[in-house]
Amino acid sequence: MNRFIVLGHRAYTTGDFKLDDICGGAGRLDILVRCVNSAFFLSHDLRKDSEIYLVLEGGTDAPKTVRFYGPDMKYLNPDERSTASLIRNALLKKLDGKNEIRSSPGVYISRRSFEDVMKDLSDKCRFIYLREDGEDVREYEFPEEPCYILGDDRDPTKEEERIMSEYPYDKINLGPVSYHANHCMTIVLNEMDRRVTRMEG
Ligand SMILES: C[S@@+](CC[C@H](N)C(=O)[O-])C[C@H]1O[C@@H](n2cnc3c(N)ncnc32)[C@H](O)[C@@H]1O
Repeated sequence: MNRFIVLGHRAYTTGDFKLDDICGGAGRLDILVRCVNSAFFLSHDLRKDSEIYLVLEGGTDAPKTVRFYGPDMKYLNPDERSTASLIRNALLKKLDGKNEIRSSPGVYISRRSFEDVMKDLSDKCRFIYLREDGEDVREYEFPEEPCYILGDDRDPTKEEERIMSEYPYDKINLGPVSYHANHCMTIVLNEMDRRVTRMEG
């Protein structure tokens, strides 16, 4: 499973935003929507082995985590508006404590924070912090179960880095410049695709 955790530092948690204004009124939700697209879409196909955790930390009801899970995924389309609508529908669900509930096939919501998500995943995968000053991806040996952590348009905060430091993690760099979060996901998936193809070939 290719897992991603994306930190939406200002992303709204109440669902009372307009789908025409996900860039402004929803706290840069547009970035997270593009990350969902990069996690799953191929040309005429879907990566069923991807999972993405969107940690929404903005608005008046934070934190919440929306999880998109490839094996169960239905009704995901490549356009940003319909993905934003899936997230908004999830945010409108009534939540009970930290329990996760299904909002639509493959889309789940909970009141989990970044710390909760890290804790829940810590025995399932190897964390990999994507950072401009990490080890070169081309030299990196990918683990069986990677979980990539990245910021939205802002890097993870000092507190988020402290939370990460409670678990073992690798730090990898994808190239000599700073990329958009969803572009980082495409690059890292491409690097993994190339290695698998090389091993199979
Ligand atoms: C748009 S960047 C955030 C701000 C960016 N660090 C800057 O100074 O403009 C979004 C995230 O993508 C990841 N990222 C961007 N470029 C990267 C690179 N060259 N290597 C690894 N990760 C990168 C980091 O996790 C970063 O938090």
